[in-house]
Amino acid sequence: MKVGMLTSGGDCQGLNAALRGVAKALYNELGSNVTIYGIRDGYRGLIEGDYHAMSPRDFSDILTLGGTILGTSRQPFKSMQTAEENEESKLDKMLTTCRRARFDCLVILGGNGTHKTANLLSEHGINVVTLPKTIDNDLWGTQMTFGFQSAMDIASQVIDNIHSTAFSHSRVFIVEVMGHKAGWLTLHTGIASGADVILIPEIPYSTKAVAAAIDKRQRSGKRFSIIAMAEGAITKDEAKMSKKEFKAARAAMPYPSVSYRLAEDLRSLTGQEIRVAIPGHFQRGGAPCAADRLLCTRLGVAAANLIREGKFGCMVAVQGDKIVPVPLKDVAGKLKGVPVDGELVRTARDLGLSFGD
Ligand code: F6P
Repeated sequence: MKVGMLTSGGDCQGLNAALRGVAKALYNELGSNVTIYGIRDGYRGLIEGDYHAMSPRDFSDILTLGGTILGTSRQPFKSMQTAEENEESKLDKMLTTCRRARFDCLVILGGNGTHKTANLLSEHGINVVTLPKTIDNDLWGTQMTFGFQSAMDIASQVIDNIHSTAFSHSRVFIVEVMGHKAGWLTLHTGIASGADVILIPEIPYSTKAVAAAIDKRQRSGKRFSIIAMAEGAITKDEAKMSKKEFKAARAAMPYPSVSYRLAEDLRSLTGQEIRVAIPGHFQRGGAPCAADRLLCTRLGVAAANLIREGKFGCMVAVQGDKIVPVPLKDVAGKLKGVPVDGELVRTARDLGLSFGD
């Protein structure tokens, strides 16, 4: 059996642990009857026929290694089926590579964009099994993606450390957390690290409400406030805009990111000293936490089992205490946002946290 593996989209902690899980389980069950091919830099390698045969040794000692040994790249889904004159489309090139390499199946590790292309390949007859990767935790069909818990640990550590300096100086801090258009990482991090205000895309905020929350804390004798703000957070006014208006407004925004804009707005509203801290790609780097290593290993083994059973066209997903296959066609193109009246949001509100709404 020939299995091609690739990692695609933004990297995260646990990609190597997941590759190792798939490989170890396949080698364990199939021995020399399986050859694994590493496809370099995600779909780029599949498009260009850039792959190499791997051996069990390649998967040793990578359980705790950050990044991805295969490399990754972003290949927008919308460019997959378009072609220059006299050129094959990227999709056709990928199908050609699969045919020439005689891959029996592909194992694809990725997030939202990756899953749209994985589904496209599946619809064109390629046997595909995918694993849900992203620090954003915004993939539909799984309660948890790998990378998320490691990123949460890092972002939480940032907010933990901000506490002491915010206290010393009696300051308001905004910590901007990644997560793209979803608030999972900010919500989990904010609760885990004791933030006072949590701003997420799913709950549009008003600066006045944020200022009121800070004021309330100060009147109750608190020296500082910490705002955990998602990079994708939007104001109530922005929530009313059409997609086109929103794009134009953001393009004209004279700040590097939403947290700098909020800092300026709060400064002029409250006269307070505000500081911004942005951990950025720090949140995606380094070793996976133990919980992610466990999750990646479970997902990897589940993917290998599907391959052995000949079940394709699905993503291995976390549902309750089980790992289950979910059809790719159900996952592709859907975002999983934070439920605004879900248990976690209610927990935060019950603690007295503000969502700026
Ligand atoms: O999807 C993962 C993610 O880290 C998002 O949280 C973030 O918006 C984006 O990728 C950053 O992308 P890039 O690494 O291409 O700058």
